[in-house]
Amino acid sequence: MPAIVVVGAQWGDEGKGRVVDWLAREAQLVARFNGGDNAGHTVVAQGHTLKLHLVPSGILHPDLLSLIGAGVVVNPAQLVAEMDELAALGVDVGPSRLKISAAAHIILSTHRALDGARDAARGRGAIGTTKRGIGPTYADKAARVNLRAGDMASPEHFAERVAEAVRAHNRRLQEQYGAEPLPPEQVAADYCAYAQRLAPHLTDGSALVGEMLAAGEMVLCEAAQGLLLDLDHGTYPYVTSSSTVAGGALTGLGFGPRHVSRVIGVAKAYTTRVGAGPFPTELLDEVGDRIREVGGEYGTTTGRPRRCGWLDLVILRYAARINGLDEFALTKLDVLSGMERLKVAVAYERDGVRTERGRRERTEVFPAEFGVESLAQWRPVYEELSGWAEDISVVRSRGDLPLAAREYVARIEERVGVPVTLIGVGPEREQAIV
Ligand code: IMP
Repeated sequence: MPAIVVVGAQWGDEGKGRVVDWLAREAQLVARFNGGDNAGHTVVAQGHTLKLHLVPSGILHPDLLSLIGAGVVVNPAQLVAEMDELAALGVDVGPSRLKISAAAHIILSTHRALDGARDAARGRGAIGTTKRGIGPTYADKAARVNLRAGDMASPEHFAERVAEAVRAHNRRLQEQYGAEPLPPEQVAADYCAYAQRLAPHLTDGSALVGEMLAAGEMVLCEAAQGLLLDLDHGTYPYVTSSSTVAGGALTGLGFGPRHVSRVIGVAKAYTTRVGAGPFPTELLDEVGDRIREVGGEYGTTTGRPRRCGWLDLVILRYAARINGLDEFALTKLDVLSGMERLKVAVAYERDGVRTERGRRERTEVFPAEFGVESLAQWRPVYEELSGWAEDISVVRSRGDLPLAAREYVARIEERVGVPVTLIGVGPEREQAIV
């Protein structure tokens, strides 16, 4: 059995957790490969609704192994809190079920403080990060000064190094940002306790994935965030600090491309974004407000209202290229029910710049690499489609969808050249068309 990679095709929050949950029935291992507790998704266990930020979505399937991969940054306080919450509901989160790659990096309390201070100092240019310490932790990783999960194997020594790092971060907090320092001994003591608790979960993540693939087991690779938040290929600098794309699964877990048999891009039937940065199809009117309310578009991690807009096929085409998508899972199609007309962006046009033939410049290629100023020059070219009035939340086969909904899905497939193999029509597990 092969590796299946599930990625977000927009700006995150596409509903990847749900798609992973659905695919997990056939998998033996679910592995998170990037990001940290900036991600979040809601799960229902034993009738209780809880928010998971770090523990992979597969944990609720009793026969599955879960791995937090090398590409992830781990806030141990958050991880321990989630494990406690799950354990209280009777979910087994013991070391035989939940593994942490020794090469994953550790988020310190001072990374979080630095994240908040740095984004506040950006003023009007703020990225609007989740303030979970993601950027500063990946920066320390790249600077080769950070602590890794494997360092928790000797908790006392780990605690000493935590105190040292906190002192160094404190100097930056005070001198650069005039912010309050954190008590190094207290942070070290807390992290020593987390280390004692988490050490039994440490593993060689890449070796585990390799063994499972060699044994013919299915490994489900779960991304956090989405393509346009990718550090290299997103709308830089309004991005997160990790690889959110399919290639990130290979580096974030440590296996080769030959094993990947399917790459699934999860896309919402419309577009949302949290935080600052360009968003060509954003709706700043009552249509956007309607989508936000009907879709419950408020952040799982920060509770912030999400910016909402029409579906953008230029972005989905970009997602297909960067990730090598085999298929789309289209979520929340039901949210669009009851809207008379729908729009989808099929291309972008640039004002004022004319081609030799005197027409406006037009592109179907997402103009990512030249930066946000360049991107801001482009306006979406829309195609209008009919909406549908029917409640589709009870539909379980594509042929039973109203004609307009079928056409909406067909349009995506036609214009992007990637089939839609799963359609979400409601929040419940079974509310999907496969
Ligand atoms: P950071 O990842 O906290 O550094 O935030 C950087 C950008 O990514 C901000 O615009 C955040 O709102 C966004 N972001 C981070 N994680 C998520 C997510 O899980 N869903 C949606 N947006 C996210």
